[in-house]
Amino acid sequence: MSGLDAAESWSVDQLREWQLARLQRTVAEAYAAVPHYRNALDSVGVHPSDIRSLEDVRLLPFTSKADLRENYPFGMFAVPRSEVVRVHASSGTTGKPTVVGYTRQDIDTWADLVARSLRAAGVRPGDVVQVAYGYGLFTGGLGAHYGAERLGCTVVPMSGGQTAKQVQLLRDFGARAIMVTPSYFLSILDEMANQDIDPRELPLSVGVFGAEPWTDAMRAEIEERAGIDATDIYGLSEVMGPGVAQECVETKDGPTIWEDHFLPEIVDPVTGEPVADGDEGELVFTSLTKQAMPVLRYRTRDLTRLLPGTARPSFRRMAKITGRSDDLMIVRGVNVFPTQIEELVLAVPGLSPYFQCVLTRPGRMDELTVNVEAEEGLPAGDWPGIEQLLAAQIKDRIGTTARVTLLPPDGIERSVGKARRIVDQRPR
Ligand code: DLL
Repeated sequence: MSGLDAAESWSVDQLREWQLARLQRTVAEAYAAVPHYRNALDSVGVHPSDIRSLEDVRLLPFTSKADLRENYPFGMFAVPRSEVVRVHASSGTTGKPTVVGYTRQDIDTWADLVARSLRAAGVRPGDVVQVAYGYGLFTGGLGAHYGAERLGCTVVPMSGGQTAKQVQLLRDFGARAIMVTPSYFLSILDEMANQDIDPRELPLSVGVFGAEPWTDAMRAEIEERAGIDATDIYGLSEVMGPGVAQECVETKDGPTIWEDHFLPEIVDPVTGEPVADGDEGELVFTSLTKQAMPVLRYRTRDLTRLLPGTARPSFRRMAKITGRSDDLMIVRGVNVFPTQIEELVLAVPGLSPYFQCVLTRPGRMDELTVNVEAEEGLPAGDWPGIEQLLAAQIKDRIGTTARVTLLPPDGIERSVGKARRIVDQRPR
């Protein structure tokens, strides 16, 4: 294939050699420049010179979101603040946001990796790309923007929201690609339907969807409705932002991890012990090239599996994210993720893809109610049967009891970014 970055065609040996050299350098730099890392390594008696193989990454202590909070705002930076050309931050649910920083070179690397991701998704130089991820402290908008520019695209910096305008510009500017959360793209498709626009007649042919979990069932729904290729882009601000991993359009088999910049591991979320390749666990990343804010064994809380490379044979893939460990619902002793509900909702005719899982605790046990919207025009007489059908599917396929409540179209709140899938009404 032409036009790939050199690293995308490396042999496994070349890749591992590069990773080890970069790992050693990253650990040495973090140890020398960031008091948090120096203390963390000292406390387990590990010195950067102990890192002699890639497996030795396991000697390093984990880094968590709490560590970033404790070093708020700039304590995790490994370069003088004056060399940080940009910060981003993720809104914490409570209290302090998590702050991340980038040197000029970090911004450059990020643009390169998003450009690489877009190319893997099927975007080409010269394409019009509408960016509907939010601009601002969130990494989605600006991360996507710089990458699309780097690839040589014409960028439409729409940000999230203004759905009617999104549709107008998609039509008038003729974007070939859109970058947006999958849940907000559904709202854009609904708006097209309201305006009697057939998305299949627009030039739009590529969607680069991420920032929240979504399933292959959702991919099928989106591709069918919009007539596009939908691929998955993964990332998190602490590790960089969008473009840590990207699904290749020719295989659509889970995001390829750009391993020349990020060393992945999967660990047991409870014990922290490594799990075998192919087994599910928590994704952990060590950055290999970041300057302003290197991360050593960062616990993403995202649950997935590492898979062998396909479209980029030397780079491992990750399975589509099952969910965040924070989103695990335990209902009558059974583990449930919103993605499992999504798959079932999409398989029941008459239901829209909008749903929310409401957790309550009327007695001693948690109870789950799945609120889901009926499709426009579904006769009211059919509602009870469909509620029962979905509840039975949840019981059969997931193994837990849930109440299902159908709502009229627009009954579920819409988000212009990440969808809120869990509404927790349990007493504190
Ligand atoms: O969501 C970065 C991003 C922007 C990725 C745009 C892709 C597209 P944060 O706000 O820090 O950064 O949230 C990171 O979002 O740990 C996952 O839980 C979730 N997430 C991101 N991408 C995916 C994905 C951005 N493709 C958190 N599939 C991560 C599932 C995803 N979850």
